[in-house]
Amino acid sequence: MITLSDARLSTRIAAERAGAWLLRATGDEFARFDSPANRADPYPAYARLRERKALYRSKLGFRVAVTFEHCNLVLRDRRFGVQRADGGQPKFFDTITMARGPEIVLSFLELDPPEHTRLRALARPAFGPAKLDGYRPLIESIAHDLLDRATEDGGFDLITDFAGPLPIRVISELLGIPDVNAERFLAYGRVLAQALDGISSMRQVRELRTATDEMYTMFRALMAAKREHPEADVLTQLTEAHDAGKLTVPELLATCELLLVAGFETTVNLIGNSALALLSHPDQWALLREDPGLARAAAEETLRYDPPVQSTARVAHEDLELAGERVRANELVFTMLGATGRDPAVFADPEVFDITRTPEREHLAFSSGIHYCLGAPLARLEAEIALRVLAERLPEPALDGTPRRRPSAGIRGLLRFPVRNAPGKRLSVP
Ligand code: HEM
Repeated sequence: MITLSDARLSTRIAAERAGAWLLRATGDEFARFDSPANRADPYPAYARLRERKALYRSKLGFRVAVTFEHCNLVLRDRRFGVQRADGGQPKFFDTITMARGPEIVLSFLELDPPEHTRLRALARPAFGPAKLDGYRPLIESIAHDLLDRATEDGGFDLITDFAGPLPIRVISELLGIPDVNAERFLAYGRVLAQALDGISSMRQVRELRTATDEMYTMFRALMAAKREHPEADVLTQLTEAHDAGKLTVPELLATCELLLVAGFETTVNLIGNSALALLSHPDQWALLREDPGLARAAAEETLRYDPPVQSTARVAHEDLELAGERVRANELVFTMLGATGRDPAVFADPEVFDITRTPEREHLAFSSGIHYCLGAPLARLEAEIALRVLAERLPEPALDGTPRRRPSAGIRGLLRFPVRNAPGKRLSVP
């Protein structure tokens, strides 16, 4: 049934789409990030902007920071937040909220203190360094198991058979989700991640609502099950926290969704982008094959060189000055994380992919400040193990078909990456 608010939403989506199309056609650099050419390789466009200015004003009504220094500043400065000063949502993101419906609350990724602090603290224990070493054997066994199955018939898809299911199985185990349907979860992740690029049709709205409904139904059933049979997992901990009055049911659902989706939607692309960069630079793959101990460094170099999350945004809470320009209260500033790793003011030879590099600074692929990625140590561990296992067991990988990119500017990665072990064959990735 089409409600009045859906009719309003549909008009708004059409207006936003028309506006974005017009701006792309008239050369607005930010609007053009979402063009097929830029999705294939956004780095030349970042460099062009960076050479021109540190802070760019998009005709879409917000600012775009492209240097390491200014992105880092915005992410760390407490005069910026993820909500407007009055607690409302910044324009651009409120269409997603409207699309999801009034019963869905924001996750702590989208909240400012004090709610952010309270909810992040409830999720933090499961992702602390003390817990991580305990996860290593689990991740190793999942990686080997997936590769056993994937390589049974020779060729396999590095994304759908390995990089995709690995983090899904890991985060599901940590959360306490049994009988995981990896394909269904991948589909949820894709629908949610696509929405971050903007909502472009009512069909997308329906997909978003279906994915949310299905996920929340699953989490509600699991909450009841954990109450009956508590286990050593995050869902049990959060259910207990709820029963102790520390968070509401909608907050718990939003937290579970964030942990689940952030837990795999990005890590799949770190493994995929690392493998792509390594196979496109055969000398670097050879280094890793000879010394699989370089796997951690290879993942770290990929986070600088081709990170899964290309941008995030903050809202100014007051009038302030940034890069010599005046930014008004409630103005949105996009920070192009993907651009920061190639900033020549920070990294020497930034266009060179070198897994033996000693970087001058830590990259911003996991963001900075109070929203710094909660799962960064887990993502690093998963990518390290995945790359090591690949290097040890797949010494001569070759492309076995055409890789396909995700149709997204915000999350960067591959949908398909067909490979096989083909000694002597040289790989060429388009
Ligand atoms: C390579 C993999 C990953 C990348 C590149 C990544 C990237 C990011 C980025 C850029 C942010 C901050 C966004 C902002 O500042 O607005 C973030 C936040 C977050 N990430 Fe990750 N992430 C990854 C893996 C994971 C994993 C495995 C988890 C595990 C659950 C996770 C959980 C979270 C959570 C909960 C937040 C919100 C933190 C907060 O708002 O305080 N991430 N991530």
